[in-house]
Formats: sequence, C-alpha cells, structure tokens
Amino acid sequence: MRKIEHLGIAVKDLEQSNALFKRLLGKEHYKEEAVEGEGVKTSFFQIGETKIELLEASRDDSPIAKYIAKKSEGIHHIAFDVQDIYAEVARLKNEGFEILNEIPKEGADNKLVVFLHPKSTNGVLVELCQEK
Ligand code: CO
Repeated sequence: MRKIEHLGIAVKDLEQSNALFKRLLGKEHYKEEAVEGEGVKTSFFQIGETKIELLEASRDDSPIAKYIAKKSEGIHHIAFDVQDIYAEVARLKNEGFEILNEIPKEGADNKLVVFLHPKSTNGVLVELCQEK
C-alpha cells in the first residue's frame, strides 16, 4: 500500500456537505460522480496528496443509506492506494483478512476498488483502490 488515497465520509445531504466542506477546507470540490452500482453520489475534495470523498445515498437500499440509519453521518471508510490490486487482494487474503469483493469493481474517480470487511480490520471499512 502506498498512501491514503482518500477518506470516505457518509453524509445525508451532498449539497449541504459540499458547502460545509468548502467552508472547512477553503476550496471547492473538484468533481461529483454517481456510482450507480453502489447507489451513491460522491463528491471529491483534493487535500495535498489525498482526498476527501463525500458519499450520499442515491437510493434506500444503498450501503450508505444503511450506514447512516445505523451509525449516522461520519467517517465511513479509509481508502489505500495500491499499485496492483490483484496482488494486494491475494496478499491480504493470505494474511487472513476477509475480503468483501475479491473481484475488483468499478469505483468512483476512475478506480478499481475492493473492500475488506470491518470485522477483520478493527471495525474500519478498508478500501483498496488502483487507478485504472
Ligand atoms: Co472510497
């Protein structure tokens, strides 16, 4: 793993949160993107080498809707940049981590992504992402 690529934050209202993070960070988000497969709308802020990804549910059965119903808004996942996502999945599986999707899927921001189950990572949802 090379760096923290982004932190994912679950929000109820993307537009309000874009305005809030603009005030907080002193800059605008640089893109918004819907990921239909995950039922989310995202927006990204660049902070140095890393990013903040705001996530709003776009339908009721979205993982983000479930997360907010259970835990409310807040930090949802940490995403690590990896060079070879297939090799990292094999390595982490071998280390005993529970992989949620062994086959990388399309994520936001032109990435292939894999998630690790939080129960195998101290309660933190971990995302691996590789630039496509
Ligand atoms: Co993410």
